[in-house]
Amino acid sequence: MTAAAKRASLKRRKIGVGAFLACLVLVLVTVLLSARGPDLMPTAIAQEQGQVPGGSLGSSSDADFWRAIRDGNAGNVSGPDAQAGVMIQSEGDLWRAMRNGPLSTYGVWVLVGMVALLALFFLLRGRIKIEGGASGHRLIRFNGFERAVHWLTASTFIVLAVTGLNLLYGKYFMPSLVGPEIFGWLTYYGKVGHNYLAFGFMIGICLMFVIWLADNIPTHHDLIWVLKGGGLLVKGVHPPSKKFNAGQKVIFWLVIVSGVSLSLSGLALLFPFKFPPMFAGTFALINDWFGTTLPTVLTPIQEQQYAQLWHAIVGVVMTAVILGHIYIGTIGMEGAFDAMGEGDVDYNWAREHHNLWVRDLEEKGREALAARSGGDD
Ligand code: HEM
Repeated sequence: MTAAAKRASLKRRKIGVGAFLACLVLVLVTVLLSARGPDLMPTAIAQEQGQVPGGSLGSSSDADFWRAIRDGNAGNVSGPDAQAGVMIQSEGDLWRAMRNGPLSTYGVWVLVGMVALLALFFLLRGRIKIEGGASGHRLIRFNGFERAVHWLTASTFIVLAVTGLNLLYGKYFMPSLVGPEIFGWLTYYGKVGHNYLAFGFMIGICLMFVIWLADNIPTHHDLIWVLKGGGLLVKGVHPPSKKFNAGQKVIFWLVIVSGVSLSLSGLALLFPFKFPPMFAGTFALINDWFGTTLPTVLTPIQEQQYAQLWHAIVGVVMTAVILGHIYIGTIGMEGAFDAMGEGDVDYNWAREHHNLWVRDLEEKGREALAARSGGDD
């Protein structure tokens, strides 16, 4: 490698590490500040003080009157649009309590847990180095199209994750951090961005599925890889791996399955009441399989509320998983970022982490050479 190429590669690596650290700090600040949520929750304060938004009477309003509407007509008024006729939906309170309660709280723990785990892993294991040192000999790992698909999926996912987390947690700390006007502006445009970028993400996961499916079919090598802990915990252990190891295959399938699930629930939120119900049928199946008693008759608005809860759960879990992926692709492993940054990797890196892939490449190379020399004769 020339000195200029080395400098450029070092610079790119520094940018990668810097970007990862910035994301890590952002997530940490987000989750830690959101732990102060209940103090800052405007609705909780409003309810305590008997005020509700819109200048209505709050807790001093006529409770008997509203109770009569809810109990008498199951919260509905008649009209041409039955959906618009829902005046009081009691289950909505349960949804609100779930969203602002367990969902938000466990979401913080999942994200903080992942950041803590990665920090601990880094402290104990340090950066996984190329044990044989850089050989200077490079192997093409991903072509331009593969990298474009990866970065389309990655960049849209990162914006979706940040703007999505802002919708869940932003209200707890952003107004005091940047002021309510800027928070309102960021949230409004963040939501618009979230709605549109979702399509880029959907295209990305569809293309990813097509280009990398063949390399992500589980094989018996994956079992050995898992039994040896991927060689991640002990230096000098390099379990067998083809193009993708078992850990990467898990990431791939998680991205595809949770990506599809995020997309479906997201589309249901983007186009309310336009999709056939998804949750009543799913709950019926779960009840059949596991003997649970989830509700199987849901109103359209309940379907929307379950779509929101599910979308947020999958989004938070996927963000945590992707934090682990970003860690290993940047500061966690020497030489890994090059694969997606420049498209090629060091020969020694490839031999240590993907020995069977290198063997296959070498065999193909030998066959090509043999074919060429056979042709020349
Ligand atoms: C800054 C963010 C990211 C970085 C630095 C990064 C880095 C990488 C690298 C270096 C590889 C190649 C690994 C190898 O050569 O074996 C890779 C593969 C991959 N990336 Fe990313 N990635 C990022 C974000 C994402 C996101 C957001 C997604 C999906 C939502 C994603 C999905 C994948 C998948 C499915 C693969 C192939 C399987 C695997 O290696 O796990 N990446 N990424």
